[in-house]
Amino acid sequence: MSAAFLDLPQFVSAAGTLRLPGSKSLSNRVLLLAALASGRSEIRDLLASDDTARMLDALRTLGVGIAPAGDGAFVVDGVAGALPVRTAELFLGNAGTAFRPLTAVLALAGGTYRLSGVPRMHERPIADLVDGLRQLGAEIDYLAGEGFPPLLIRPPRASAAAVVRLRGDVSSQFLSGLLMALPLRGAETTVEIVGELISRPYVEMTLATMARFGVLVQRDGWQRFSVAAGSVYRSPGVLPVEGDASSASYFLALGAIGGGPVRVEGVGRDSIQGDVRFADALAAMGARITHGENWIEAAAPGAGNLRGIDLDCNHIPDAAMTLATVALFARGPTTLGNIASWRVKETDRIAAMASELGKLGVRVDSGEDFIRVHPPGPTESLLPAVIDTYDDHRIAMCLSLAARGAPLRINDPRTVGKTFPDYFERFAAMTRPVPVVAVDGTSASGKGTIAARVAQALGWHYLDSGALYRLTALAALRAGAAGDDEAAVAAIAATLDVEFAGTSIRLAGDEVGDAIRSEEISRAASLVAALPAVRSALLFRQRAFRRPPGLVADGRDMGTVVFPDATSKVFLTASLEKRAERRLKQLIDKGIAANIRDLVQDLGERDARDGQRSVAPMLPSSDADLLDTTDLTIETAVAQVLDWVNEVPEKG
Ligand code: DC
Repeated sequence: MSAAFLDLPQFVSAAGTLRLPGSKSLSNRVLLLAALASGRSEIRDLLASDDTARMLDALRTLGVGIAPAGDGAFVVDGVAGALPVRTAELFLGNAGTAFRPLTAVLALAGGTYRLSGVPRMHERPIADLVDGLRQLGAEIDYLAGEGFPPLLIRPPRASAAAVVRLRGDVSSQFLSGLLMALPLRGAETTVEIVGELISRPYVEMTLATMARFGVLVQRDGWQRFSVAAGSVYRSPGVLPVEGDASSASYFLALGAIGGGPVRVEGVGRDSIQGDVRFADALAAMGARITHGENWIEAAAPGAGNLRGIDLDCNHIPDAAMTLATVALFARGPTTLGNIASWRVKETDRIAAMASELGKLGVRVDSGEDFIRVHPPGPTESLLPAVIDTYDDHRIAMCLSLAARGAPLRINDPRTVGKTFPDYFERFAAMTRPVPVVAVDGTSASGKGTIAARVAQALGWHYLDSGALYRLTALAALRAGAAGDDEAAVAAIAATLDVEFAGTSIRLAGDEVGDAIRSEEISRAASLVAALPAVRSALLFRQRAFRRPPGLVADGRDMGTVVFPDATSKVFLTASLEKRAERRLKQLIDKGIAANIRDLVQDLGERDARDGQRSVAPMLPSSDADLLDTTDLTIETAVAQVLDWVNEVPEKG
């Protein structure tokens, strides 16, 4: 089971080195050509991902011998142009880099095949490719919507056609797929492009990969492509796959927005992948870029800020998405143009990016083929946001970069598995989050006072998490919800309208700083805090307090649940009698009548309930420092906590 969401803390810097996973586009091209070639190929550094898994499954179903050879390598026994299995059903998920070329190859292969995918794949157009293939005699039927998968492919009619006219302005994958299939015909064939050919660098990758397998395509500008009669694929033997240049874009962007330097290894100056040009776009925004033969490095501008750019992105459609989030950290707006192909990808990427970037509180303009991002002003900051990912790996990876400016919750983060299964682990290893001091402890152990003073001494933000449970209890009481109606109270917690400003706390506009400290609300808070749905409703709200330069958070589960990665953790205790005495003094100071016996009993009951509930019980984290405040003054306790905080070495 994959997690439903991942919370990313805001990060203050990023630096490091990453060995890139293999290129998705090259992996699937190389696999297909190795399968069609004569001879055995050893493919090294193949990307392990959903898209390549779909291609591997499909080729095996078609009778191609493929065996893993350890460490990302695969041995493929080529079928010399004749697929052994002539009738098959293939499920290709949402892998465009498998669906398009396999459609072309199978349409010319002479068997009967049914190709389908996930529902989104059935919304992605394929008519231009099918129209092209039909000119060569292919027999292809649409099984659902006209112009879209799923498809039924039968053996082609004999055809002497030598010229195919193909539209090139929806997706370059149609031309790539068709070109890779043409050697199966044996006869000379020319493809003429109708309209503008988009995403040309991907076609160049196709031509370069075909050349590695011995087939040279004659090219006349970007208009005509010819494959000679008798062209056959031959295995080149051992073939390493370059690192993924699109995946590199996220980490180069981290270097540009997080200080850097960040180095990616596996692509370099002479890469055949178009997306390496992303580095030029970052340089145009002011980032410092250096290249080696097999690496690229990015760092923030030497002085001043990144600046917005206006760029035609036809040549880097995938990596351009990364620019849309980098734009959040530049001066001035950024306009990315000529990106209509975004609308037919894993999701409508223009609509998705506009909607998710908008959640961060920035203005985004978009149209049929462009997007414009207006960054926040110098005194504004991004808003914490819950990001939806649309089953689109690139939306998830791009938007994660916005955590440079705000805490984020990424829904369905495992969608990155399409091309980069351990993306978030790599991301975490390279970024330094805003530091947190977690101060947990029993009721009236002094943690509120101590935590607030530590925050003041450090100049950091302060979170009184107990106040959120108290506010929930008060709001539930005011709304007339029963304290044990878990769903109702959780809904109230999720939509609490609160405003903290200094010592003032407002609930729906009302000052409630004193009201939430009453003994009645103390008891009610401890009851609602035991409801699991209430705790999860308040989780992201608490994490959203983690803003630069740092946060001191007090509560019961700061170090165990809310901020398990806190830089320092402290657990405070004091004897029950001492705590009752402190509470009595507080109440008397406020002019509230109370007696010590009742307070001892009440605190004892609350300790028991907070410590024994099934979710997030009050417990010291195993890595917390314990501090018994029974005989300590506030000043001594604060000084001790500050000592511990200052002992923590900075993560590099
Ligand atoms: O810290 P406090 O007394 O203001 O907390 C009020 C109640 O909320 C207390 O009974 C425990 C609960 N609480 C919690 O369960 N988890 C937190 N992180 C903070 C408070």
